[in-house]
Amino acid sequence: MQPTSNSNGVALNQPSKSFRNPPWWNRRTRLERGLLVSACVFFVTCAALVVALASTNSALRVGPNSESMPSPEALVDDGAEDTEPGICNTKGCVRTAAAIIQNMDEEVDPCDNFYEFACGGFVKNTIIPDDKTQMTTFGILNDKLDEQVRILVEEPVKPDEPKPFQLVKNLYQSCMNKSLIESLGVKPMNEILKKLGGWPLLEPNWDPTTFTWIESVYRFRKLGYSNDYFIDFSVTTDVKNSTYRIIDIDQPALGLSREYLTKGLNESEVKAYHKYQVELAVLLGADRTTAVKDMRDALEFETQLANFSLPREERRNVTKLYNPMTISELQEKFPSIPWLEYINRLLPEKVQIASDETIIVTVPEYITKFQQLISQTDKRVQANYVMWRAAASSVSYMSESVRKLQLDYTNTLTGKGEREPRWRECTSVATARSKSGRISLANAVGALYVRRYFKDEARASAMEMVTDIRKSFLDILKEIEWMDSLTRGRAIEKANSMETHIGYPKELMEDSKLIELYDGLEMSNNDYLGNVLNLTTFGTDYAYRKLRERVNKTDWISHGRPAVINAFYAPLENSIQFPAGILQGVFFDSERPRYMNYGAIGWIIGHEISHGFDDQGRQFDADGNLYDWWEPTTKNAYLRRTQCIIYQYGNMTAKEVNLKLNGINTQGENIADIGGIKEAYRAYQSWVQRNGQEQKLPGLKYSSNQLFWISAANVWCNKYRPESLKLRILTGVHSPGEFRVRGPFSNMEPFSKDFNCPNTKPMNPKEKCSVW
Ligand SMILES: *[C@@H]1O[C@H](CO)[C@@H](O)[C@H](O)[C@H]1NC(C)=O
Ligand SMILES: *[C@@H]1O[C@H](CO)[C@@H](O)[C@H](O)[C@H]1NC(C)=O
Ligand SMILES: *[C@@H]1O[C@H](CO)[C@@H](O)[C@H](O)[C@H]1NC(C)=O
Ligand SMILES: *[C@@H]1O[C@H](CO)[C@@H](O)[C@H](O)[C@H]1NC(C)=O
Ligand SMILES: *[C@@H]1O[C@H](CO)[C@@H](O)[C@H](O)[C@H]1NC(C)=O
Ligand SMILES: *[C@@H]1O[C@H](CO)[C@@H](O)[C@H](O)[C@H]1NC(C)=O
Ligand SMILES: *[C@@H]1O[C@H](CO)[C@@H](O)[C@H](O)[C@H]1NC(C)=O
Ligand SMILES: *[C@@H]1O[C@H](CO)[C@@H](O)[C@H](O)[C@H]1NC(C)=O
Repeated sequence: MQPTSNSNGVALNQPSKSFRNPPWWNRRTRLERGLLVSACVFFVTCAALVVALASTNSALRVGPNSESMPSPEALVDDGAEDTEPGICNTKGCVRTAAAIIQNMDEEVDPCDNFYEFACGGFVKNTIIPDDKTQMTTFGILNDKLDEQVRILVEEPVKPDEPKPFQLVKNLYQSCMNKSLIESLGVKPMNEILKKLGGWPLLEPNWDPTTFTWIESVYRFRKLGYSNDYFIDFSVTTDVKNSTYRIIDIDQPALGLSREYLTKGLNESEVKAYHKYQVELAVLLGADRTTAVKDMRDALEFETQLANFSLPREERRNVTKLYNPMTISELQEKFPSIPWLEYINRLLPEKVQIASDETIIVTVPEYITKFQQLISQTDKRVQANYVMWRAAASSVSYMSESVRKLQLDYTNTLTGKGEREPRWRECTSVATARSKSGRISLANAVGALYVRRYFKDEARASAMEMVTDIRKSFLDILKEIEWMDSLTRGRAIEKANSMETHIGYPKELMEDSKLIELYDGLEMSNNDYLGNVLNLTTFGTDYAYRKLRERVNKTDWISHGRPAVINAFYAPLENSIQFPAGILQGVFFDSERPRYMNYGAIGWIIGHEISHGFDDQGRQFDADGNLYDWWEPTTKNAYLRRTQCIIYQYGNMTAKEVNLKLNGINTQGENIADIGGIKEAYRAYQSWVQRNGQEQKLPGLKYSSNQLFWISAANVWCNKYRPESLKLRILTGVHSPGEFRVRGPFSNMEPFSKDFNCPNTKPMNPKEKCSVW
């Protein structure tokens, strides 16, 4: 549900699995992420279904010794539902109530705008700090997690400490040593650019005969820079044969999103991008006039790449993106690139391919047009473009003078006026996940995190809720009238075989596993850029080396990054994942009534399960293979129902920026939100049938069912800067928080019933949409 990153997966963002087209964010290298700050907010998983979720409320956690909820069993009895259950006055309930009251605006009629009713107080009372692009309940929980991680990584290295933890601490320390970084200035950047071949606009005697774009790709790969600037290259799971891996080539992620670039050079974000290019070049020593002209040409080149890249809207159909061909066929179709050599130079020496190897070409049209364009483009332009990308991806690791330029640029994209505190940036670098299939230090940080902070009691409760909510999804499947029995049977099989990963894998407790995982990686405490480049090279080798290895779908490594506030569905594994980080705060608390947990983490669980059956997830079968298991009439009925959702959200307008939501790009998330809340609600109703009515909260006049909806809405209370809201709408797969509440709730009959909303009210429209 929230931005995330991940690997080849599809996601509500992202945990690790993703499928073939990693989300935009995932495709970025760690270096690029630094640059494209804006991205950090959205996960834009073009293809990836991984879903992220998030939110939180800081004040809710109750200490381990506080009293537990009054035992609901005491009320269980045949006549229990008629009994007035009274008010819960435990500490847990009081804190829960206080947080709800703080977020609400009871002046608003819940039938007019439930988001304002539940979150209006949050919106009114929240000021977005200068160093943030948005404030969300999820973000507040994230901040707390960052603080916990900070404590862990700031502890001094102990002499006998296992190496993986030393690596993390060294990386953190190298990032924190600002005086060292300042003293070096832009020297490390100039040196590395020279090693990469030289940025023409900085070199008075730049010689075009020394440059080919292909050689630059090899050099970038060797030195730890991204090899994906012209053509994206990955080793990923084969979507049609998902226990095996395959090579995939795709259009690249650009320095500025296609959605902005294609608007032309007059768009304010594009102007800011050009200005950033010029200022960076000038700071590194370029002549301004040359820089303006050279980077204008490079930008025109990049705009053309954007022009013939497939838009997000057209990347949701995985079959369309599955174009297998052998290297020989590829060579015939796209003769200007020496494919066999190209690929073998990127792969590790031990893993080489021959010309009968089959690979996937995601967007053949891109390669065709790229060949044409590159053959007509001056080498100076090609080199200026790719060296700009390298420079931009290194900016985060340089001195403040350079970083200031980056901040000015991201300010235009996100509205953020100041950098976050250094420790937070350094914590994020240590915790970050990387492009799909690659390894980062997230497993080592996750091990530190769960060993110190995770309470195992959350695991059992979460498992119980997964069982419950899966059951209500199965009940819905059985009731649905528009499904034929064959398709229904396959859907039931898929839901039953969905694998669940909760908290963290036990291997994170074993030092020996972690030591083996990071074998060969070196980090020093005084070379920040060097560390990041080492990590990128190590992570890339790790991913590419796996080409011939079978995929282990329950592997602890890809499910072992628990220090994150997010949740995921992985279509290629048919699995859901709820990392330790999300099993707390506003999402889950064992010391508050169940309606609160069902509304929050319950909704998220339902959301992830439903991702298996959204417009992308439904393309995969129970084993995680791309396979059409839908009978034609049922498929048509399904598509009509998704069309209802596409139009409904496509007609919603974010007033602050006067932009309509993108109904197509957000459909997967919207289908999952609508299905998820329904499943959670039904699961809670059957919990009450088994256990009896729960008590209400102090100071609030609402019934248990009403509190279920209020709890759910609290997950999405948020405030965005306008720039950041625009970015999210143009490039994100998740609807903004307000619409994640208003959309799903207004499609739910039980919601209108619980709040007595007449059908003349906006929250109870005549036309309702849902798939599940
Ligand atoms: C920063 O690095 C310098 C040079 O390696 C070192 O002398 C200094 O102690 C470091 N400072 C911190 C705070 O680690
Ligand atoms: C899956 O890939 C493996 C290895 O390339 C191959 O041997 C096998 O036949 C493939 N299976 C299917 C169903 O295509
Ligand atoms: C791409 O370029 C072509 C030819 O210049 C133009 O007609 C088309 O509108 C452009 N498409 C986009 C999405 O910018
Ligand atoms: C860009 O804006 C300038 C000044 O506002 C205008 O003169 C120019 O025609 C615009 N160019 C394009 C391509 O729209
Ligand atoms: C997906 O693309 C394939 C191949 O281009 C096409 O046959 C199929 O109809 C598309 N599916 C949908 C739902 O549009
Ligand atoms: C990067 O790795 C190399 C080889 O493993 C090592 O010699 C070097 O010291 C590492 N760099 C840093 C900054 O740790
Ligand atoms: C897959 O990974 C799990 C967890 O790491 C491990 O227990 C299992 O043995 C692995 N399976 C195979 C076939 O390697
Ligand atoms: C808005 O809804 C109408 C009718 O349902 C539909 O025709 C139109 O395409 C929708 N607009 C968008 C942008 O989705």
